[in-house]
Amino acid sequence: MSLQQEIERRRTFAIISHPDAGKTTLTEKFLLYGGAIQTAGAVKSNKIRRGATSDFMEIERQRGISVSTSVMTFHYGGKLINLLDTPGHRDFAEDTYRTLTAVDSVVLVIDCVKGVEAQTERLMEVCRMRNTPVIVFINKLDLEGRDPFDLLDELEEKLSIKVRPMSWPIGIGATFQGVYDLHSMGLRLFDPGKTKVEQTSERIDDVMDPRLDTLVGEDPANELRANVELIQGVYEPLSVQAYREGRIAPVFFGSAFNNFGVKEVLDAFVAIAPPPGPRPTDQGEVSPEDPRFSGFVFKIHANLDPNHRDRIAFLRVCSGRFERNTYYKHVRLEKQLRFANPTSFLAAQKSIVEEAWPGDVIGLFDTGNFKIGDTLTDGAAFNFRGIPAFSPELFRELVNLDPMKSKQLEKGIRQLTDEGVAQLFTQQPGNKKIVGCVGELQFEVIAYRLEHEYGAKCAFQQIPAYKACWMTTTDEAALDQFIRVKAQQIVQDKDDNPVFMAPSSYMLDLERRNNPEITFHTTSEFKTAIAD
Ligand code: G4P
Repeated sequence: MSLQQEIERRRTFAIISHPDAGKTTLTEKFLLYGGAIQTAGAVKSNKIRRGATSDFMEIERQRGISVSTSVMTFHYGGKLINLLDTPGHRDFAEDTYRTLTAVDSVVLVIDCVKGVEAQTERLMEVCRMRNTPVIVFINKLDLEGRDPFDLLDELEEKLSIKVRPMSWPIGIGATFQGVYDLHSMGLRLFDPGKTKVEQTSERIDDVMDPRLDTLVGEDPANELRANVELIQGVYEPLSVQAYREGRIAPVFFGSAFNNFGVKEVLDAFVAIAPPPGPRPTDQGEVSPEDPRFSGFVFKIHANLDPNHRDRIAFLRVCSGRFERNTYYKHVRLEKQLRFANPTSFLAAQKSIVEEAWPGDVIGLFDTGNFKIGDTLTDGAAFNFRGIPAFSPELFRELVNLDPMKSKQLEKGIRQLTDEGVAQLFTQQPGNKKIVGCVGELQFEVIAYRLEHEYGAKCAFQQIPAYKACWMTTTDEAALDQFIRVKAQQIVQDKDDNPVFMAPSSYMLDLERRNNPEITFHTTSEFKTAIAD
């Protein structure tokens, strides 16, 4: 197959949701359709279960599972689909943001009872930053959920995207009877008993057809007619181009648990989701059709076996063809590297691959060469852009509890932060280390892993910091002056960029007003500042 054909048949995406909305359940149903798994229950939830065992043990268990489910590859509708897993726990949201840089589209799952939840908004902000195309699946229609029109309004309002319903539910919860497919004009009746078999489907080209009354009852049929009329009048028809540009999101209704409405989403996905697209670099865009290989690392798993310092770097192929046992250029280190055992992932199995194409994700065994965001090419010296660091929400000073082990602590915290577990900031003089995380749980993980993998004991001390702000300016002298005056609150990120640690939202606003020539960003990418 030619490069062009390989690209055209690939679809690389992630399913995102607020925890508990049904991501794992939907993933499992997709894999069942794709034949990648045979039985329900084969996909392990990647949620961190609090309580049952120690959180650290749970995290170790999760790290084991999440390597094997990091990328799930399956075939459906003539396409080769790479489904990238995202962590189920809010504290690991940053990992999800990075994974979103490696996909070409997403499926967003919303719980119809809860509507748009906090984490959904955050994840969608990241999608909006890169105009990632989104398909929405409103799940759990078998429960007493909210009014579908309200849910659509909420989606448009909170996620700042236009929506277009592709199906419409008839009843909800106890009165849920099925969905009317607005695209193929078919009625799909719900039978909660049949969880794995195809649901019955009736073709009704016109909602005025009296068969509708016989099938769902007169009142629900009339309500559907009124709703369909309203939808056709209010919502723009779906333009595939607008969807691919991230301007409009098709919305489906169903119940993942009951395998209802899942096939429609998958069918729509293979019909409209984009193949691997161009990616921005510091020297312009790289097209997947460029025959010269390039890719970037978006995720690293380290020290799965504490006896071996083994790490797997996950690389997304962006252009050309990757081949096993070939030398490639590690741009940051200006070093040639060769990979004897690159792996692909098919559900739980790992296998060695000879080649990979744009849109594919491969696992590279790493002895410590990679950091998140690193670029690999067949010789060119550009770097992929767009692996932003987001300001952490919690900051603690790392305190060494065993002065004899300071080297181990230094190495450990560097490696863990390369892996993206947390962000590390240093303050000079004194080499003070400040660790920034999204959630409390990550501090526990770091302390545990530093002790068990590096033999270094540490504690975390509260510090008054509200946001890490990267800075750009129109006036270098003013920025230098600001950095001098605020030395107490200036730290360096891992790439030695100066970062202002705003102590509070009030102080950040004040500095913004007092220093109009400096722009304070809460992401390191500077395109869009995520709302504070
Ligand atoms: P997540 O990965 O997004 O966190 O969600 P997950 O799929 O694990 O689903 C969360 C819970 O919601 C699960 O129940 C799951 O069975 C349930 N669920 C998923 N889809 C539907 C649906 O369409 N209808 C209903 N009623 N429930 C649904 P659980 O009790 O937490 O877990 P389990 O014991 O069933 O695994």
